[in-house]
Amino acid sequence: MSATTHKISMNAVQFKSMAKIIYDRSGIHFPDSKKYIIESRLSHRIVELEMENFDQYISYLTMGPYQTEEFQEMFNRITINETSFFRNDAQLDVFENQVLPGLLEARASTKRLRIWSAACSTGEEPFTLAMLLHRTLGVRLSDWRIEILGTDISEKALTVAQGGKYNSYAVRTTSSMMKSRYFKEDGRDFILDDTIRSMVNFEKHNLKDTLAAKRHGKWDVIFCRNVLIYFDDDMKSSVLGMFDNQLVSDGTLFIGHSERIKSLTDQFTQLQIPQGFCYQKTDHISNLKGS
Ligand SMILES: C[S@@+](CC[C@H](N)C(=O)[O-])C[C@H]1O[C@@H](n2cnc3c(N)ncnc32)[C@H](O)[C@@H]1O
Repeated sequence: MSATTHKISMNAVQFKSMAKIIYDRSGIHFPDSKKYIIESRLSHRIVELEMENFDQYISYLTMGPYQTEEFQEMFNRITINETSFFRNDAQLDVFENQVLPGLLEARASTKRLRIWSAACSTGEEPFTLAMLLHRTLGVRLSDWRIEILGTDISEKALTVAQGGKYNSYAVRTTSSMMKSRYFKEDGRDFILDDTIRSMVNFEKHNLKDTLAAKRHGKWDVIFCRNVLIYFDDDMKSSVLGMFDNQLVSDGTLFIGHSERIKSLTDQFTQLQIPQGFCYQKTDHISNLKGS
């Protein structure tokens, strides 16, 4: 039997169990309409493990001796890691030209800036932010202590990020100017410049684990784009509460262009910048208006 072609079907009860296990561990919500994703992506794994059905897999996942490893393996397979360099250029333009200048001015005395790219997938987002900082600061970059951290639940995605080697699909939304400035072409591959690579650190982090986020201290900017769409309202609220704790008082939160958080939090207020999809703490905005 070929492991690549054999599909193991999942019945409604098995789907309910799998969806609950996944939600409890990660906050990722699989509605009935997305059953096919679990089914198609985990069938191969079940065959690899020489199992016959989802019942066996659920037991292995929840009661077997390799639970921790299997949960990781499962998240490597079921997460949607779609991303690209310079994804949503208009929003990045807002970051570079409307948010960053004020931030650099506000941090002129400490010359320290901390940016978290939460749910960064294969690294294109934090590396893009590094390129924008590199371009903006130019020779002044060495005067600054810039920390950019990319985190994701998928170890597999983070391994790609750490490799710094991408295919043409990853740079599909990158201008030729930025491509020639920050990549070296090697056959079909695009090798990222070492300076940009050295500006970003990667670490596994599950957004469900709000306590683990405290370890990294406070951030000046948090990018969390195109992952809230996979969460239900409870999980979104919990993540937003965590961001409220982990963002400095004048910090900025960027979310994906199709994500809406207004009804879920009064801790953040959207900045009236077209295409920005960025938020600051409501207290900070009220203080600015009052002053
Ligand atoms: C569609 S990608 C978004 C990548 C990038 N932020 C962007 O906008 O291009 C979503 C990422 O969220 C990650 N993810 C899903 N649930 C997560 C969780 N609970 N904690 C951390 N990362 C998670 C997935 O592994 C995936 O890499």
